[in-house]
Amino acid sequence: MTDKKVEILFKEFSSPEEMPSADQKLVRAAMEAQKSSYAPYSHFNVGAAVRLEDGTIIKGSNQENAASPSGLCAERTAMFAAGANYPGVPMVSIAIAGGPSLGLCANPATPCGACRQVMAEYQKIGGKPMSVILVGADKIWKFDRVDDVLPFIFDSI
Ligand code: THU
Repeated sequence: MTDKKVEILFKEFSSPEEMPSADQKLVRAAMEAQKSSYAPYSHFNVGAAVRLEDGTIIKGSNQENAASPSGLCAERTAMFAAGANYPGVPMVSIAIAGGPSLGLCANPATPCGACRQVMAEYQKIGGKPMSVILVGADKIWKFDRVDDVLPFIFDSI
């Protein structure tokens, strides 16, 4: 038997201004997208913004429904819109901004497992690392690839 360890590296920024300009733009787009969140049941508002390889930014927000499983997270709303409207164009980054009542959590809100799995698939078919940027009130975390938020990614092939 051997003990093994998984190490995850990520960067912490104290404000968007510390980030490269493309990341700043994506963070602001995610914060903007949060305003369109429809979350009358949870009152937890999430915005997401996906950057494609060609620089296009696609926004999404969580959309809830009285029949709760019919709603969808912000990240998947954005990624599915990107996949549907720009098929074959790699998604190279996703920023996520979430918190209660249109605010941001002090520590960044982190994506659910289903959204991480969807990120993993788009990263795989895009053939490029997709960075994941999580926006909190006091700090922003940046992971260089989906593998860093989803170790041991499921892959059927
Ligand atoms: N939510 C997201 O939009 N993204 C996540 O990764 C986790 C949760 C949404 C779903 C629901 O509308 C609300 O946050 C509370 O769970």
